[in-house]
Amino acid sequence: MVITTKLTQRLGIAHPIIQGGMHYVGYAPLAAAVSNAGGIGMVTALTQPNAEALRSELQKAKSLLRSADTPIGVNLTVLPQLKSPDYPGIVQVLIDERIPCVETAGSPKCAELWAMLKAADPDVCIIHKCTTIRHALKAESLGCDMISLDGFDCAGHPGEHDVGNFVLQPIAARKLSIPYVTSGGVGDGKQLAASLAMGAEGVNMGTRFMATVEAPIRDEIKRALVSGDENSTTLVMRSLKNTERVYKNAAAEQVLQIEAEHPGQIEKIYHLVKGDNYRASFQETGDTQSSIWSAGMVMGLIDDVPTCEALIEQMVAEAEEIIRGRLATMVR
Ligand SMILES: Cc1cc2nc3c(=O)[nH]c(=O)nc-3n(C[C@H](O)[C@H](O)[C@H](O)COP(=O)(O)O)c2cc1C
Repeated sequence: MVITTKLTQRLGIAHPIIQGGMHYVGYAPLAAAVSNAGGIGMVTALTQPNAEALRSELQKAKSLLRSADTPIGVNLTVLPQLKSPDYPGIVQVLIDERIPCVETAGSPKCAELWAMLKAADPDVCIIHKCTTIRHALKAESLGCDMISLDGFDCAGHPGEHDVGNFVLQPIAARKLSIPYVTSGGVGDGKQLAASLAMGAEGVNMGTRFMATVEAPIRDEIKRALVSGDENSTTLVMRSLKNTERVYKNAAAEQVLQIEAEHPGQIEKIYHLVKGDNYRASFQETGDTQSSIWSAGMVMGLIDDVPTCEALIEQMVAEAEEIIRGRLATMVR
């Protein structure tokens, strides 16, 4: 059972499924499990405290891969931050460690980092994640290899334009010249088949991979994803034009209340939205309510915690059955 696309061919992977970067989730065990299952996993660079720690994490990930030629990727997010991470140092680690695929996200400054990566290895595959066609076209013009297009249903940062994947994806098919994958809200094989039908070369998933055996987060968080549904998210930081789709909990309700009273004032909510809070929930306490953490509407499609291999096999089998079976029988 094989679905061959430009994504699988370019990366030499069996299945057209990417595990997107996830802060405080995208550690070596998850990324390696996804790559070992035939997709491609992404170690999240900024989850590591510095470039040398990232090097260790990548070496750990590689030691977990089933073979030396199983590819693994890295997510590199470039967001405006008070204290900028050491991006050149991080890129040097990716070059030294011969990472074949880098998923970038965030500001156009990413293009400077792509140039460094391409100068060291012209074959490195740069997948840039964005939420609008305008940004995707810009990224294409600046030389990335593929786009990961996040629709409004996605976890994390859906942008400010609120276009769902049912419209966004076919527009990408019309307008982009480089390959792209569907990101946001994906969790089953029906959506994989639909994404391919609309023009994508595969899918990128975040939330669905959090609810897997290998995701290195507390079971309480995984259980919250299973018991949550498509209505269990909310959008915080809209008033700052830095919208984030998060799990709807007590902390998120508090942020929304403060934003209603003090729109656009990050200093009023910073103590609630800062990343350290959810690192503690994910890694230490398992408390689902006390921190702001990204999660997507795809919770409505999550009802188990499988291994990454079982999840990917099941998704690909379902997509294949739809393409060969249900859809084929409709055409006369
Ligand atoms: C907990 C969590 C943390 C995330 N952190 C990042 C990040 O640091 N950088 C990034 O580019 N995307 C991040 N994302 C977004 C994912 O890579 C992916 O684009 C998104 O989850 C897709 O939507 P889905 O969750 O509906 O599959 C994060 C998502 C989640 C759920």
